[in-house]
Amino acid sequence: MNRVETIGELRLQLAVWRGAGERTALVPTMGNLHAGHLELVLKARDLADRVVVSIFVNPMQFSAGEDLDAYPRTLDEDIARLTDAGADLLFQPSEAEIYRRPLEGQTRVEVPGISDILCGVSRPGHFVGVATVVCKLFNMTQPSLALFGEKDYQQLLVIRRMTEDLCMPVEIRGVPTVREEDGLALSSRNNYLSPDERARAPAMYRMLRETANAIIGGARDYRRLEQTALSRLTEAGLKPDYFVIRRAEDLGAPMSVEEELVILAAAYVGRARLIDNLRLSLR
Ligand code: PAF
Repeated sequence: MNRVETIGELRLQLAVWRGAGERTALVPTMGNLHAGHLELVLKARDLADRVVVSIFVNPMQFSAGEDLDAYPRTLDEDIARLTDAGADLLFQPSEAEIYRRPLEGQTRVEVPGISDILCGVSRPGHFVGVATVVCKLFNMTQPSLALFGEKDYQQLLVIRRMTEDLCMPVEIRGVPTVREEDGLALSSRNNYLSPDERARAPAMYRMLRETANAIIGGARDYRRLEQTALSRLTEAGLKPDYFVIRRAEDLGAPMSVEEELVILAAAYVGRARLIDNLRLSLR
């Protein structure tokens, strides 16, 4: 696997592949790679001729007081994992390479509406940071397709909407969440959990499953299901931020006739803010 740090080097390599008629897939990451990221790389290999992975801990998507400085950085391990997974190129830019001027003066990409609910309420500005950096990475790489984990379901919808609204010629693929045996979704933030917190964390996935089963079994009082789940998460020692049942397509409030739903949850377990979701089809 080759490694480049500048946009110039990246474009030189991409031009060679494009010249040979090869399709490129981009897997944007913030590093500290786990099996969930590697699944994106494996899927990308199936779908494209060349796989570029970016590692950039994007300061614009962290608010003051969040874990930007503490965010785990494990470059040597990441390189070994990407090499094993068969990635072709690692793009690992510096902050100055991505943001040529101070963050406050940067051109930004805002996807209104869908960015302002759920995680967007607890993390103001987060999705502007995500959309901006992903837009920049798309412009730098010009991939045929890009892959994102479905664990960050709201992020996936924000990116889809951005590419549609801005007519970006890139196909967006969501890849199913990879889980531990007890259901906990893989996340770099799981590293923050103490053994006791780690034991409590799977309650979130359990509640997603129980709520999904209740809906499949005919329950339609979504408000009540949400309230029950919030209480149960608190009893399990988590500090829930939200637990909601929404339309899968756009995260709007579902009506009882809706067929494609997603249940989304966010909760603090100690200092880690974990998110997860479960999609269900009532077709
Ligand atoms: O999901 C992530 O790791 C990040 O939000 C992303 C998409 C790489 C943008 O920084």
